[in-house]
Amino acid sequence: MPIVKWMKSLSVNDEKIDDQHKKWIELYNRVHAQMMGIEPTEDYLGIGEAALAEMIEYTKYHFSSEEDFMKKIGFPEYEKHRKIHEAFIRKLEAISYQMQEDTHVLNSEVLKVIEDWFINHILKEDQEITKYARRLQKSNTTTRYP
Ligand SMILES: [Fe+2]
Ligand SMILES: [Fe+2]
Repeated sequence: MPIVKWMKSLSVNDEKIDDQHKKWIELYNRVHAQMMGIEPTEDYLGIGEAALAEMIEYTKYHFSSEEDFMKKIGFPEYEKHRKIHEAFIRKLEAISYQMQEDTHVLNSEVLKVIEDWFINHILKEDQEITKYARRLQKSNTTTRYP
């Protein structure tokens, strides 16, 4: 059962970014199922590492698209938002490194970090982009809105 579900209220009024968030949620749910559903006797560390590596790669791709979108609409908090992205990537990479070096990293802890970020970022900070995009759309429905 998926842990996180896409909701219309998460929309940032851009199909590409919305689709990426949907895909990110899908990926998170898959990572969650993989990391939590494996028997301890299996190669759970290897599977966890691979799932996390895939998530890091997709997150980087998504962040760069979202940053392009923010630039395109002239989002005033661009730099602040970009730094949050950067910090999250650093956090994910640190976990990934820890998993390679230290066998005591629990999959549940890794998922907690990702989930906390999801709640704080997509549900709150990305919503600031949505609000700005909506304001922009209202104030200029004809030419300037990308
Ligand atoms: Fe995002
Ligand atoms: Fe973001």
